[in-house]
Amino acid sequence: MRNYGLLAAAAGLSLLATAQADAAGELNLYSSRHYDTDERLYSDFEKQTGIKINRIEDKADALIERMKAEGANSPADVLLTVDAGRLWRADQAGLLQPVTTEVLNARVPEWLRHPEGHWYGFSQRIRILFYDRNKVNPMDIQTYESLADPKMKGKVCTRSSGNIYMLSLMSSIIAHKGPETAAKWAEGMWNNRARDPAGGDTDQLRGIAAGECAVVVSNTYYFARALRKDVKGLDKDAMSRIGWVFPNQASTGAHANISGAGVAKHAPNKENAVKFLEYLASDAAQEYFSAGNDEYPAVMGVGLSDSVARLGIFRSDTLNLSALGENQPEAQKIYDRVGYK
Ligand SMILES: [Fe+2]
Repeated sequence: MRNYGLLAAAAGLSLLATAQADAAGELNLYSSRHYDTDERLYSDFEKQTGIKINRIEDKADALIERMKAEGANSPADVLLTVDAGRLWRADQAGLLQPVTTEVLNARVPEWLRHPEGHWYGFSQRIRILFYDRNKVNPMDIQTYESLADPKMKGKVCTRSSGNIYMLSLMSSIIAHKGPETAAKWAEGMWNNRARDPAGGDTDQLRGIAAGECAVVVSNTYYFARALRKDVKGLDKDAMSRIGWVFPNQASTGAHANISGAGVAKHAPNKENAVKFLEYLASDAAQEYFSAGNDEYPAVMGVGLSDSVARLGIFRSDTLNLSALGENQPEAQKIYDRVGYK
């Protein structure tokens, strides 16, 4: 009888556990990121909350198109992607809804989130200058503006102007200096090019290693990744040749962008979606989330991963990232007008 009682109790417990899991429900995450640390990031959330995460992974633009096509029937609860410009595009398409909570407001700095909570930044990628230590004096490239200085003639490499990172950088210059100054900057930088834009940010860093480029624009995580693990074309010798500058430290701060997420307009599991965003802002999740892509955490006081710590700390531009989306069409027009490929 006693055994039977224990069995019955155990069966009862497991029924209870199942009921709790059902009650906790699920979360449909549309995500354009996939890193090694993500497994732990998601399994910790599932353990803490009992909420099951269903991941739908694709390129950001494909996910946005999918959500548009699904409309009010979309199962998406959270859209997770990189670059404020892209989150802005999703928001403009009416795919996100406002969410404000004390936790999110307290933990995510104001400039890294949408003013009405349509999206939040959960890690920071800083767009900075990398240079050939043999060819450039870092004192000559302390600002983004210096890339347009005739002194840099034949030295500058960037990726193409249609890339969202280049559009976001230009958008921040428009916000700070106005479109006319921004156009002069783009023109000067174009005139200083060492070669026509090609490849991604890592290719710009490789351009330094190959001796083709003396100063390049790249997001921090591409370099930090090459510090952490082998990246083709960036061996130890190449890496030791590359120096870096966080620009505009005496004025507007270095251009920051984010990986971020927002709650989907038609989220069937809105409560779980909000819980997930709050979880992403927690200390433990912040460490996984930022370290997974060698990015800086968004929340103040969270430790840096080893590779990121080697890049050091900096003063960030505190321009609200919404401006990056708002100025995006004008940014492309300016690049096109000055013939920046
Ligand atoms: Fe990237």
